[in-house]
Amino acid sequence: MTPSIADTVNELNEALTPSRLAMSPVAYVPTMGALHEGHVELMRTARAIGDVVVVSVFVNPTQFGPDEDFSRYPRTLDADLAMCEKEGVDIVFVPSADEMYPFGIDGGPRVDPGPRGTVLEGASRPTHFHGVLTVVTKLLSIVRPSQAVFGEKDYQQLVLIRDLVRTLFLGVDIVPVPIVRESDGLALSSRNAYLTEAERRQALALSRALFAGRDAAGDGAAAVLAAAQEVLDAEPQVEVDYLALTDPELEAPPQRGEARLLVAGRVGATRLIDNVGFTLDADGE
Ligand code: PAJ
Repeated sequence: MTPSIADTVNELNEALTPSRLAMSPVAYVPTMGALHEGHVELMRTARAIGDVVVVSVFVNPTQFGPDEDFSRYPRTLDADLAMCEKEGVDIVFVPSADEMYPFGIDGGPRVDPGPRGTVLEGASRPTHFHGVLTVVTKLLSIVRPSQAVFGEKDYQQLVLIRDLVRTLFLGVDIVPVPIVRESDGLALSSRNAYLTEAERRQALALSRALFAGRDAAGDGAAAVLAAAQEVLDAEPQVEVDYLALTDPELEAPPQRGEARLLVAGRVGATRLIDNVGFTLDADGE
């Protein structure tokens, strides 16, 4: 069935009223559109756990820095709606910036991500997570889902959204979905559309570095970082922003146990991020 399209909060409330009256669990997937197979996986997860599936498409201006790609971010609404229909989404929420920011995008209260928002992505993009957490708070308040589905592709975002839900008692389950990759390892991203063929090949160094790091997990933390760094060093066209090995909560460098290896880098004009999780042995035990 064709999903209902809601452009305003009022329209969304109208579309959701029957499900709310029936107390049907709503599963929700927030996106910025330019949907790809990664988003599709989130929609399938939502479809499997919710009676009603809501997807939002909103390119949130406040999470882009002044020199970032807000104006050229890909906007492909017709294709997005077709994908939502194919995946059995019930309602697509497509609000305007005026609807989402009644005091304007520079006005009104906003959410501070706290200390875990200042490292990694937050160090390179100082206002990014304020924008993400502000819009996610708004969207969760509007949709009021039982579950909200997020990808591990944006790993720090996922951690911070869990913090947000705990801190503000938002009462929603956050459901993580593993990263969907191309067959050659490149993590799917709406921003891959910016890459030339040569840049796309160079960008593969990011995932290859993560996999090399993961393969060295039996030899300890230093070996993981060295193996990943070696792959990155061999591809000078990738300007690395950070390569970091942390515990899953992004708090401390792990010596052993569950770990995340995260990377960010620029290929031409495009900034890409990726990460991988694995179990780390202390020093080759
Ligand atoms: P967007 O980049 O459109 O991503 C929407 C969701 O899809 C996020 O949870 C993201 O982690 C997930 N996703 C993207 N690529 C993926 C991949 N290859 N595999 C698995 N999941 C993937 O993230 C945002 O939008 C925004 O910050 C948002 C949360 C919507 C707030 O504006």
